[in-house]
Amino acid sequence: MNKDFWRGKRVLITGNTGFKGSWLSRILLDTGAEVFGYALENDDEYGVFNAIGLDKEMSCRYGDICDEGKLSEAIKGSDPEIVFHLAAQPIVLKGYEDPVYTYRTNVMGTVTLLNALRDRSGLRSVVNVTTDKVYENNDNGVSFRESDRLGGYDPYSGSKACSELVTSTFVSSFFNPVQYGISHNAAVATARAGNVIGGGDNAPDRIIPDCIRAVRNGEAVKLRNPYSIRPWQHVLEPLALYIMLAEKLYENGTEYSGAYNVGPREEDCLTVIDVVKKLGQNFPSLVYELPENAPETDLHEAKKLILDTGKISEKLGFVNKWGIDECIGNTALWYRAQLDGEDMVKVTDKMIKEYFEI
Ligand SMILES: NC(=O)c1ccc[n+]([C@@H]2O[C@H](COP(=O)([O-])OP(=O)(O)OC[C@H]3O[C@@H](n4cnc5c(N)ncnc54)[C@H](O)[C@@H]3O)[C@@H](O)[C@H]2O)c1
Repeated sequence: MNKDFWRGKRVLITGNTGFKGSWLSRILLDTGAEVFGYALENDDEYGVFNAIGLDKEMSCRYGDICDEGKLSEAIKGSDPEIVFHLAAQPIVLKGYEDPVYTYRTNVMGTVTLLNALRDRSGLRSVVNVTTDKVYENNDNGVSFRESDRLGGYDPYSGSKACSELVTSTFVSSFFNPVQYGISHNAAVATARAGNVIGGGDNAPDRIIPDCIRAVRNGEAVKLRNPYSIRPWQHVLEPLALYIMLAEKLYENGTEYSGAYNVGPREEDCLTVIDVVKKLGQNFPSLVYELPENAPETDLHEAKKLILDTGKISEKLGFVNKWGIDECIGNTALWYRAQLDGEDMVKVTDKMIKEYFEI
């Protein structure tokens, strides 16, 4: 990361009260950027947003991502040069429970945001954060490339694939590369990350937060899909990619528009049960239960999901920094410090400094 680039830049992060948005906000605050946020309020004491007191550190506006009036006010008030779009309903199981809310938030949220950004002449970079689940996945073990067919078996995945489509439509209609520097000054990209872990995620139905809640409550964690293979990454890895992408879009324009996979090396893609065992090395009281009959629930989740990340290394020169052991070790370190009542701002800043060498 080029710290000098970020100093004084006006940045809007949607979803800044969530897990990834909070880490991203803290990194950019540490560079001296002016960071603004728009999201739903978050009163979760264990989540990273409140654990590091971000509400006092950055300018936050609260509202629904589909609320055109509030979102426009937040955009006018922040006049962003760079926008990271992370606000979403990001949980696969919640997508099954409430598909309408999931589609509304993830699809119309993207439409509402991009529409509100159309008249911002100072806007230079937009990074829309989607997911590795946007691909049509036949569980045949092949790793996905950016040019592969989009799909989405479940409502969450489908809604994120739609968010990709919305982005592509807005690029051709309103942020067209041919019109760059004429009717607009913005370059837009999407980033498709794999499973992200790290301190301060307290979302339901995600394996690491489930484990930490189990440790906190002295219970056993129930593993839904213990043998599913996932591309695990520490949260700082995809955030470093989003940051790099925003810099490239800002400085080089539409040459860097498009979609980018971001994920770990193939050897760092492990089964859920292996990750839980590795986490357990740091939390001896962590106990897990396997499903009684089938290794999967009847709610479909892909068994294997691996991304081809050749494009980010070839086009952007992006290199993953932390392998699976550092990824899990740093995740455990953060939660352990929180359980021990340490100063979480210091712990978080130290980790950011170590990762980015700033
Ligand atoms: N965590 C992962 O493993 C992972 C992997 C791939 C992609 N992603 C994507 O990264 C982004 C951030 O995920 P996260 O893990 O930080 O999730 P999170 O649940 O911790 O945070 C979600 C954020 O979106 C906001 N939000 C949700 N619904 C909203 C609404 N209706 N209006 C306004 N704001 C709303 C929340 O307030 C919160 O700030 C999401 O787009 C998600 O799909 C996450």
